Amino acid sequence: MPSTLTLTLAPADAPQSGTLIALLAEGQEPKGQLARLLAQAGLEWPRVAKAGNFTGKSGQSLDLVAPKGLDSDRLIVCGAGKAEEGAWADRGGAVMARLAAAKAETATVLLDGLAPETVADIAAGLTLRHYRWDKHRAKKPDDPGPALAISLGVDDEKRARTALDDRLATVAGTLLARDLVHEPPNLLGTLEFAARAHELTALGVSVEELDGAEMERLGMGALLGVAQGSARPPRLVIMRWQGGKKDAPPVAFVGKGVVFDSGGISIKQAQGMEDMKGDMAGAAAVTGLMHTLAMRKARLNVVGVIGLVENMPSGTAMRPGDVLTAMNGTTIEIVNTDAEGRLVLADALWYTQDRFKPRAMINLATLTGAIGVALGADHAGLFSNNDELATQLLAAGLLSGEKLWRMPLGPYYDKLIESRFADIKNSGGRPAGAVTAASFLKCFVNDVPWAHLDIAAAALGSPSTETNAAWASGFGVALLDRLVRDHFEAK
Ligand code: BES
Ligand code: MN
Ligand code: ZN
Repeated sequence: MPSTLTLTLAPADAPQSGTLIALLAEGQEPKGQLARLLAQAGLEWPRVAKAGNFTGKSGQSLDLVAPKGLDSDRLIVCGAGKAEEGAWADRGGAVMARLAAAKAETATVLLDGLAPETVADIAAGLTLRHYRWDKHRAKKPDDPGPALAISLGVDDEKRARTALDDRLATVAGTLLARDLVHEPPNLLGTLEFAARAHELTALGVSVEELDGAEMERLGMGALLGVAQGSARPPRLVIMRWQGGKKDAPPVAFVGKGVVFDSGGISIKQAQGMEDMKGDMAGAAAVTGLMHTLAMRKARLNVVGVIGLVENMPSGTAMRPGDVLTAMNGTTIEIVNTDAEGRLVLADALWYTQDRFKPRAMINLATLTGAIGVALGADHAGLFSNNDELATQLLAAGLLSGEKLWRMPLGPYYDKLIESRFADIKNSGGRPAGAVTAASFLKCFVNDVPWAHLDIAAAALGSPSTETNAAWASGFGVALLDRLVRDHFEAK
């Protein structure tokens, strides 16, 4: 795919060259601009569709090259699936895939007859699918050219512009999260990540940082236990966006930011260990979300807290058998140093609710391999102590396309992390691995409405969707932006 994308808006009937592309749902006849262009090229619709086996199913497309009577090189009709099924961003993603396959450099997407919000969703899909990570290739892929210019042909440019700008703020956050996750761990350590978070000050976010000594004073023994094996110092970064009333309690988002997870003394196998550069995807999603909310000047108060550490084996690393004391006084027996994310979150969660008294607190973490065993990459795991918040999150998942599946909590699982030597242990072993990790986090949450999202499989490893062709998906930004818009933001 080309490396830069420019999106512009134009009236649907503006003169067009390059590639023309339109969406057509199952069982629908071409209307508006598409109908006019087909007629102009002398193409009789039911006959063309029949000859091309085109019924409008998603995945189908009809490629009419060098159409007579048109200035364009080709006219592509893309199947949009069932008209009543939402997912317009997915359709935008499919359009981008077609444009890339056609090696288009200039294209017009015909979007007349569609609402401004739908146009914005399609534009989001185009942008998200176009994304690729080539920053560290000295030799840039040049297929088919350096730039793709897309004009969106719409009915009402002004209304489309407003909807588009709003929607592209969400996309920008998702792409920032993807960028952070893709960065190699030698180049994005704890301090480099913190510096990236500081860049949000340009958007009006206030950014604060706690170093190891300050965390020591606060008694964050769990987070510091993970950090102690690494040459890189830990950081707790606090990002605040004050878009609401001055003293209104914020919504809090907390992210696991393990910049590299070797497993520590309980070291991981070599196969696939490189993927553990992405063990900060929760922190990346929180940072991306803060970027989005500030960019679109969201009308609420938000705090984003990320715990940045590296999990390494060394002479100073924590050991299996060690007992750590978390900020809330809970003692933790370490039985596996690879169950480190929950230790980072333990102190980050406690600190966040203690200091900010949030209305709701949601954490994101690439916490367990077990969540991928349970759900694959199609849903992230949702654990919550609050049915209302859980319901709102499930709804935001369906609307954003970043789906969640609710998992249980309860005394059976709590029992699995009881320790012989301390209050709790940091792993309950293989059975219900994702659930016992959530049980562990629950020990560091009081009665604030809280949800834990285990995004280990949804955020990493090329979870293939219509809106992502890259390794990291940026999972969580669109979901939580939707949640905020629908349930927490002043209208
Ligand atoms: N970061 C991993 C979880 C993970 C696995 C994220 C695969 C992304 C892809 C986490 O720190 C971890 O190592 N979890 C262990 C827990 C176990 C030791 C109880 C796991 O899932 O095996
Ligand atoms: Mn680990
Ligand atoms: Zn980890």
